[in-house]
Amino acid sequence: MSLFQGLSFPGFLLPLALFFSCVFLCHGGTTSIFVRNVQKGTTMSLDSDVFSVPSGYNAPQQVHITQGDLVGKAVIVSWITEDEPGSNAVRYWSENSKQKKKIAKGELVTYRFFNYSSGFIHHTTLNNLEYNTKYYYEVGLGNTTRQFWFITPPEIGLDVPYTFGLIGDLGQSYDSNKTLSHYEMNPKNGQTVLFVGDLSYAENFPYDVNLRRDTWGRFVERSVAYQPWIWTVGNHEIDFAPEIGETEPFKPYSNRYYTPYKASQSTSPFWYSIKRASAHIIVLASYSAYGKYTPQNQWFEQELPKVNRTETPWLIVVMHAPWYNSYNYHYMEGETMRVMYEPWFVEYKVDVVFAGHVHAYERTGRVSNIAYNVVNGICTPVKRSISSGIHNHRRWRESWGVSNQHDRTTAGILGIQRV
Ligand SMILES: *[C@@H]1O[C@H](CO)[C@@H](O)[C@H](O)[C@H]1NC(C)=O
Ligand SMILES: *[C@@H]1O[C@H](CO)[C@@H](O)[C@H](O)[C@H]1NC(C)=O
Ligand SMILES: *[C@@H]1O[C@H](CO)[C@@H](O)[C@H](O)[C@H]1NC(C)=O
Ligand SMILES: *[C@@H]1O[C@H](CO)[C@@H](O)[C@H](O)[C@H]1NC(C)=O
Ligand SMILES: [Fe+2]
Repeated sequence: MSLFQGLSFPGFLLPLALFFSCVFLCHGGTTSIFVRNVQKGTTMSLDSDVFSVPSGYNAPQQVHITQGDLVGKAVIVSWITEDEPGSNAVRYWSENSKQKKKIAKGELVTYRFFNYSSGFIHHTTLNNLEYNTKYYYEVGLGNTTRQFWFITPPEIGLDVPYTFGLIGDLGQSYDSNKTLSHYEMNPKNGQTVLFVGDLSYAENFPYDVNLRRDTWGRFVERSVAYQPWIWTVGNHEIDFAPEIGETEPFKPYSNRYYTPYKASQSTSPFWYSIKRASAHIIVLASYSAYGKYTPQNQWFEQELPKVNRTETPWLIVVMHAPWYNSYNYHYMEGETMRVMYEPWFVEYKVDVVFAGHVHAYERTGRVSNIAYNVVNGICTPVKRSISSGIHNHRRWRESWGVSNQHDRTTAGILGIQRV
């Protein structure tokens, strides 16, 4: 995703470029004065302000939204009530219209995990929204009603700029709070978060493991109730715990976080695609089967030819485990998926891949390692140039200022626009 891959250097600049790339190779390059803490972050205590329960009988809490269809004209609103099921209706209206308020009805789920019974988890989809419009919405009708708002994306198209936030591995330490605050304060104003997996790290708290999913939901509400977070599943969402009889992977996650997977003909909430502004975004699942003949593999193969670069010139893929990572931790965990899917990424010219998992910020230029066939010795990733034609007119407008500020988290901003 380097800005410079598509540009040719004038001859006299070339030695300079080589010199810098040598410096980069030899020393890894220094792009920030920040040095990560060696210790893990300190967990925010249960009585922290960010975890406070909204007051009022049966008040909706952990309110979160995500895209609810393929093209950005629907929103899934989710929240939890603790005292009784309460209403699963959402009342909503657009800022400008004089039209009367609408009501959408949804569904209610609960789950048990070991000795924990979840609250009443509501998921309600608001359909047929207008593009580029501010909507207000209310949940908790009948008892304690809380009001929020969101802004729908512009209509999908070639020349539509948009700004995505990038957050992964968030957790619930004081550093997590700083990361979220940095994202919120970023002057580039992220409009939608691509969340690259690992949400609450709840299983790190053996005595209040389930409680910590609820605290995390309350912590991030201040952002995700107002702008969609596009969910990717990480290893901390697997929650496979046969020692306590919990053998259904992803149980808490899949009850709490819905995705619009059916709209892209996926058969699983863990892999799916959406279109938003000028981007076609494909979400892959690092911890669901992806080998040949598996449902994810079949879906992905059918999905790629559907990408219409005239409509959505940006092709973005998000996943949890990175394919390229020079860090010792989690080294090569993404390798088998890379072997399966990288030839398709090259063929279909994926613009950029975002992954989480490794709590250290790294980025590479546009590389691939598809020539390697185990015995041919071509085992060093090669640089790839951006193809000609329309793709040359695209440019990242990016700000990575919030990246790697803290020890457990990653966050950044990605702006896309035509130049
Ligand atoms: C979290 O960050 C917000 C916004 O910066 C701040 O108001 C709040 O006090 C912080 N809470 C904790 C526990 O750090
Ligand atoms: C669930 O089990 C844990 C560990 O045995 C215990 O500490 C906790 O109090 C239990 N919670 C409930 C709701 O029973
Ligand atoms: C909560 O709302 C329900 C449905 O409107 C109503 O029957 C009930 O009396 C309310 N409870 C309280 C405590 O307000
Ligand atoms: C791709 O999108 C453009 C612009 O919306 C449209 O005119 C064209 O028909 C689409 N192509 C296909 C194959 O759907
Ligand atoms: Fe992870």
